[in-house]
Amino acid sequence: MKILILNGPNLNLLGTREKSIYGSRSFEDYFEELKENFPDLELSYFQSNTEGILIDKLHEVGFTYKGIVLNAGAYTHTSVAISDAIKAIDTPVVEVHISNVFAREAFRHKSMIAPYCTGSISGFGLDSYRLALQYFERMKPKKIGFGSNNA
Ligand code: DQA
Repeated sequence: MKILILNGPNLNLLGTREKSIYGSRSFEDYFEELKENFPDLELSYFQSNTEGILIDKLHEVGFTYKGIVLNAGAYTHTSVAISDAIKAIDTPVVEVHISNVFAREAFRHKSMIAPYCTGSISGFGLDSYRLALQYFERMKPKKIGFGSNNA
């Protein structure tokens, strides 16, 4: 069961960026732990700071993979184009945030992508990703038009 973890802008700096909010661990390091903890999921990881590249990646995997865990970073709050891409693909997307976006500035309370995601997880630190993967592992998610392939 193929699952993509897709990280958006500035998340390549996890471990060095605003450590009091995002922690001191790099995502590459945490990803190794996730792979050990979810041996039955075929996990892959991709990060980009560029909106169009994130959209290309959603298109690339969004008709064959079983799930996408998306932390769109600041694009969460602004991107009509990413929300349209989530709408356009078959693969279910779970929105994640490391920080509790509702406990932060008002502009972070709005998610453009949440209405098109299966669900949203916010505020559990890097564990937000683990919780999203547990959903995919346990719930065997379905989306209309999905399931006609063996990914
Ligand atoms: C974030 C929250 C966003 O508001 C912010 O722009 C990020 C990270 C999070 O994981 O907490 O870049 O998505």
